[in-house]
Amino acid sequence: MRIFGHPIHPMLVHFPIAFWTVAVGAYVAGAAGILESFDGIAKFTNSAGLIIAMLAMVAGLTELRTIDSASEAMRVATWHMMIMAAVWICFLLALVLPNAAGGAMDRATAQLVAAAAAGVGFLLMTVGGWLGGRLVYEFSVGIKR
Ligand code: HEM
Repeated sequence: MRIFGHPIHPMLVHFPIAFWTVAVGAYVAGAAGILESFDGIAKFTNSAGLIIAMLAMVAGLTELRTIDSASEAMRVATWHMMIMAAVWICFLLALVLPNAAGGAMDRATAQLVAAAAAGVGFLLMTVGGWLGGRLVYEFSVGIKR
């Protein structure tokens, strides 16, 4: 998926990375009891990350067609895709788990669960982002020749 020949996926990916980086900081700060208002920031930035990541995934999926299916680049792209899907699920869990428990968790436990899910998502995102970088800078995926 391209605009004037420029792949859309790299235009979008910086937004979820930035939003989720703020979100994980806010979840951890909330769990550590640093400030009450971190809850709202965490939910807002996490939700924004989830929405834009979904758009990025659609754009990324369309780019897969440009990669030779038997190549090492496709192997890396498949790992990148699976890891980023896992990241998305982690941040979704951070958003919904505290509420989904239906009040079974106290506030401190809910904040801890959200921070843990977001923390795992963030660590996975660093690996997925590195693999995305390999696709562009090592295998020249999306580079105009
Ligand atoms: C279905 C999921 C995804 C697929 C199939 C996918 C596929 C790709 C492909 C093919 C590239 C090579 C560049 C291009 O052609 O656009 C790439 C790069 C990249 N992707 Fe993804 N991607 C997915 C999800 C994500 C998500 C959710 C993020 C961020 C949260 C992300 C972050 C990156 C980054 C940082 C790069 C390197 C961009 C650059 O350095 O210019 N990807 N991805």
